[in-house]
Amino acid sequence: MEFREPFLVVGSKGMLGTDLLARLCDCGKKAIGVDIDEIDIRRRESVADAAARYAAGTIINVAAMTDVDGCESRREEAFEVNAQGPANLAELVSEGGGGLIHLSTDYVFNGRARSPYGETDRMDPVGIYGKSKARGEMRVREILPDRHCIVRTQWLFGRHGKNFVEAILEAAKTRDVLRVVDDQRGSPTYAADLAGALVELCDKGVTGTVHVTNSGNATWHEFAAAIIEQAGAGNVRVEPITTEELGRPAPRPAYSVLDTAKFVRLVGKPLRHWRAALVHYLNERTRNTGFFAKTDTGSSKGRP
Ligand SMILES: NC(=O)c1ccc[n+]([C@@H]2O[C@H](COP(=O)([O-])OP(=O)(O)OC[C@H]3O[C@@H](n4cnc5c(N)ncnc54)[C@H](OP(=O)(O)O)[C@@H]3O)[C@@H](O)[C@H]2O)c1
Repeated sequence: MEFREPFLVVGSKGMLGTDLLARLCDCGKKAIGVDIDEIDIRRRESVADAAARYAAGTIINVAAMTDVDGCESRREEAFEVNAQGPANLAELVSEGGGGLIHLSTDYVFNGRARSPYGETDRMDPVGIYGKSKARGEMRVREILPDRHCIVRTQWLFGRHGKNFVEAILEAAKTRDVLRVVDDQRGSPTYAADLAGALVELCDKGVTGTVHVTNSGNATWHEFAAAIIEQAGAGNVRVEPITTEELGRPAPRPAYSVLDTAKFVRLVGKPLRHWRAALVHYLNERTRNTGFFAKTDTGSSKGRP
């Protein structure tokens, strides 16, 4: 289908939303951003008000309650934002025309697979965040069967929000040893790369469900070790621990690598390897910090 302008990016002040709005504008598209200070997707009237104000041709929903541990203790809020929110947006689009692009997550899977999850694999989330996001996907499919694109992604890092890369760099300023989980595997994904991919999917009018991540995969421990190495903080040791040792409130899938073959077929090429994206990210932030990113990514060859 044709995803028409103007694009309304809902959640535009978040990590992905900020990069996405910038990318749409850079590509010369008419795009407007709204966030929680202007729209509350949990409330139908608020969604309708924003729609009336902006007359969007396409809504791109990147708003979500992304605090995975917080979702366990605030279950009702998680379902309101992550399930009722996209349903409200889908109903609005179904009444007024246009299309909906909606972001979802690897956490809709249980993590017991041994090979990458495909788009049609059965959802079976293990925590409240994943359950609420899975319900959101189902509502979007029910309400807008032919006019949606659901993009599942994972392990985002980027310039505009709290994320794992920043957490590791921050911890490395004060600690000699970092203990990081080594029994969860996924694909770290650079928000700016994902933003570019979303624009390509829009341009191609792709509907249905698509998995989009950077190439390659890693455990959190492997990812942390790469961050420390690339940032030139070699004095910091990164030790592997188990998920159980870390003892976070929310259960998480152990293996949630997403199969991106469909995306590659649709746009003709995969996103770059996460190690190359990490180097790019670290180089971009060098201006503001004391960390320095190496430019040689050759060592990534053959790694996960
Ligand atoms: N981050 C990841 O690793 C990851 C992985 C897989 C999938 N995803 C998905 O990718 C999308 C973007 O994630 P992200 O990390 O960019 O999220 P984010 O940084 O948390 O941004 C989400 C934005 O939505 C806003 N928001 C929250 N509740 C809202 C509501 N009721 N109405 C309107 N806006 C609301 C947030 O405001 P506040 O900050 O004030 O709450 C925030 O500005 C989400 O759908 C997420 O589920 C993310």
